[in-house]
Amino acid sequence: MKAIVYHKYGSPDVLKLEEVEKPAPADDQLLIKVHAVSLNRSDWEGLIGKPLYARLGGLRKPAGPILGSDIAGRVEKVGKDNTQFQPGDAVFGEMGNYRGGFAEYVCTGGKAWALKPAGLTFKQAASIPQAGVIALQGIHKKGQVQAGQKVLINGAGGGSGMFAIQLAKRYGAEVTGVDNAEKLDFMRSLGADHVIDYTREDFTRNGGQYDFILDLIAYRSAFAYARALKPGGNYYAVGGSVATFLQFFLFGPWIRRNSGKNVRLLAVQRNREDLEYITELCDKVYPLRDVPEALRYLGEGHAKGKVVIEIQKG
Ligand SMILES: NC(=O)c1ccc[n+]([C@@H]2O[C@H](COP(=O)([O-])OP(=O)(O)OC[C@H]3O[C@@H](n4cnc5c(N)ncnc54)[C@H](OP(=O)(O)O)[C@@H]3O)[C@@H](O)[C@H]2O)c1
Repeated sequence: MKAIVYHKYGSPDVLKLEEVEKPAPADDQLLIKVHAVSLNRSDWEGLIGKPLYARLGGLRKPAGPILGSDIAGRVEKVGKDNTQFQPGDAVFGEMGNYRGGFAEYVCTGGKAWALKPAGLTFKQAASIPQAGVIALQGIHKKGQVQAGQKVLINGAGGGSGMFAIQLAKRYGAEVTGVDNAEKLDFMRSLGADHVIDYTREDFTRNGGQYDFILDLIAYRSAFAYARALKPGGNYYAVGGSVATFLQFFLFGPWIRRNSGKNVRLLAVQRNREDLEYITELCDKVYPLRDVPEALRYLGEGHAKGKVVIEIQKG
């Protein structure tokens, strides 16, 4: 089968389109013919090897040669112990280790995968899993965002942010989206009541305070985030630097005791129910050979919402 392969961390130039062996499903796995795979920042992080958590399982060289985690496709073969799906089922979901998807076929256990709703195309379905579940767990399950609350989403013009803005509006919040100047209109179009260009304004230093903050790109100190919360407010970081994450563990309990504010890391749990709960929006669709160009587009900061790679038409 064809796949986009890499053997060292680097720029999109280290990615090559190659012929590799088609995977064979273990007894508890499915073999899926990939129709579409969407890009996430986790693909970019896995490509460049930063932040440090992107090197889990592969400190010096990538843990696996194929990136790509959010997939929609058709089940081609079912291992004898996998009873969830049948050959021919159209399915969508996320690869367990953020790898394997930039290819014509993948094997997965499919535990947190779901049947693709007939009303969604493969491209639309592929744009949902990681970003949609992050937003749902951040805004609803952990954040328990309520009507009338002031909510800030940092990195709101990207993949998870675009779902998060819409969900927070759905739960009745007053939403502030933070991202670069190119994405301000996009965030407004998704329903953001206020927008901040992070290149011109630091939301942790402008005096604003929020009931809830979902941070998709946390690089400041735990104290800076606490400053931007109302007393009793909650902050969850999803992506960002390991140094910032460590501060949540080191200083989080002290901040909570002294101010009643909660600054924490959100560990996203993949599951089928959440996947089935959400809907999607797409930005761009590329063919498989254009993964390097597509990742460059995302890494250089032009992607609004999700970018999707179409592998099989249909
Ligand atoms: N915690 C977990 O369990 C878990 C699970 C899966 C994934 N993740 C992580 O979740 C993160 C979310 O990724 P995503 O796919 O939503 O990313 P994304 O689509 O790249 O969106 C992030 C957005 O943040 C913007 N941004 C960059 N620097 C910023 C800054 N200083 N202030 C505000 N916004 C800024 C980016 O814009 P630019 O174009 O300007 O860069 C982009 O629009 C990833 O880091 C991923 O590793 C975490």
